[in-house]
Amino acid sequence: MEDSRSARASLGVELARSAGEIARRWFDTSALTVEAKQDGSPVTQADREIEQHIRAQVAEQYPNDAFLGEEFGETEGTTGYRWIVDPIDGTKSFVHGVPLYANLIALEENGTIVAGVINLPSADVLMHAERGKGCWKNGKQVHVSDKTELDGAYVMATWLEDWHPDSIVDLQSAGAVIRTWGDAYGYMMVASGQAEAIVDYTTQAYDLAPMPVIIEEAGGTFTSLDGAREFDGGNGIASNGAVHDSVLKIVNQG
Ligand code: IPD
Ligand code: CA
Ligand code: CA
Repeated sequence: MEDSRSARASLGVELARSAGEIARRWFDTSALTVEAKQDGSPVTQADREIEQHIRAQVAEQYPNDAFLGEEFGETEGTTGYRWIVDPIDGTKSFVHGVPLYANLIALEENGTIVAGVINLPSADVLMHAERGKGCWKNGKQVHVSDKTELDGAYVMATWLEDWHPDSIVDLQSAGAVIRTWGDAYGYMMVASGQAEAIVDYTTQAYDLAPMPVIIEEAGGTFTSLDGAREFDGGNGIASNGAVHDSVLKIVNQG
């Protein structure tokens, strides 16, 4: 299965790059139209065009693989592989002309995430990982930070509305620095040692699917807020490992 896994992982990187090219054609242009989905979150032509492009390429090369995408849902498969795609993660950044949005592609093999890509086209960063092969940022292998104390640790949030106010106060009292360099951008920062942790209270499977392999291959820890090793439980936390339990304890109150 190893060869077919690596071939798919390479395709994932290639598709994330082409997703980025489509995103950049729409980013910060007057042609971009923003619609509200049923849940009130924004969606654009770029989200749909990117997912359709990735779906078509995967269907052509691996027609029996399963596929889950944010905009067009689930397609069943028979090979044990499932592609999980968020065509534009950080759509709010994207539609406000903020260059921190990403294209996310993950590959699941018999229920385990084995490869993942975070492409940040307007920030010029492509991060990818495959099980056992390390985490790579623009061609260089990266590792999480070795900071063990919360004092001076950078803890990222995508948005603070669903945080308990006591968690914010307690992190700050412990000396942590809270910043909203969030969405997948924050996970990229943790994997490359630029920040110590990121916490998301409200997520879907496609928001976090690449994170287990990206963060673990960089030497860090990724769990749900219950501490379980899962990406599809509705929330998530990534860290350098050393500060994981202390951040979890603080953000789980309230
Ligand atoms: C968002 C991000 C974010 C999470 C939000 C999602 P989107 O995704 O993944 O990390 O906290 O709940 O909506 O909608 O920009 O793809
Ligand atoms: Ca997302
Ligand atoms: Ca999205």
